[in-house]
Amino acid sequence: VDHSAEVPESITVRAAVAADIEQIRALAIGNGMFAPEDMGGFDDGLNGYLSGELEGHRWLVATGPGGRVEGAAYVAPEPFGDRVWNLYFLAADPSRHRRGAGSSLVRNVEQTLRAEGDETARVLIVETLSSAAYEGARRFYASRGFDREALIREFYGPGEDKIVFWKSLV
Ligand SMILES: CC(C)(COP(=O)(O)OP(=O)(O)OC[C@H]1O[C@@H](n2cnc3c(N)ncnc32)[C@H](O)[C@@H]1OP(=O)(O)O)[C@@H](O)C(=O)NCCC(=O)NCCS
Repeated sequence: VDHSAEVPESITVRAAVAADIEQIRALAIGNGMFAPEDMGGFDDGLNGYLSGELEGHRWLVATGPGGRVEGAAYVAPEPFGDRVWNLYFLAADPSRHRRGAGSSLVRNVEQTLRAEGDETARVLIVETLSSAAYEGARRFYASRGFDREALIREFYGPGEDKIVFWKSLV
C-alpha cells in the first residue's frame, strides 16, 4: 500500500542551502549512519552540491515548525544507468522518526522527477543495509511503494548485505 499522499501539512520541503550543513551532518551522525571521522565522502557530496560543482545533484531538507530541519535527502543520477536516479541519503531527526519527514522528502523527490518527465528520470533506486538497525528503513521503503529488487551479499561487510529498492517514475 502506498501511503505517500498522507503527509502532515506542517512539514515543508526545500532545496538545502549552506546554512543547513551542520543540521544535515547531525542527521547522518545522530542516526548512526556514519561515524564523525567517516564523514569525508558525505561532506564532499554536500559541498560539491553547494558549490554547484556536482551539477544535477540535489539535496533537500524537510523543515517543521519554526523552520527547524527535521530531515534531509540527497538524490542524483546514476552515472552508468539510463535515467536512473539514486536516493543516496535519507534521514529524519532521530528524536522525531515516524512523523512524516521521510515521506515528505521522498514524495518531493518523486514529484519533482516525474514532473521533469522521462527524458530526465525513469527509475528511482535506494540502497540500504540488511542489518536489524535498518529494518525501519526497509519497512519505510516498502510502505512508500518501492519494490525490494536486489540483494548484494556482504557488500557493506561480513554479514552486512546491500538491499536495493526500486520504483518506476513513469
Ligand atoms: C527511514 C527514515 C528516513 C524514515 O523517515 P520518517 O520520517 O521516520 O518516516 P515517516 O514518518 O515518513 O514514515 C512513514 C511510514 O514509513 C514506515 N516506517 C517508517 N519508519 C518505520 C519503522 N521504524 N518501522 C516500521 N515502519 C516504519 C511506516 O509505514 C510509516 O508510517 P506510520 O508511522 O504511519 O506507520 C527514518 O526513520 C530514518 O532517518 N532512519 C534512520 C536513518 C536511515 O535508516 N535512513 C535510510 C538509510 S537508506
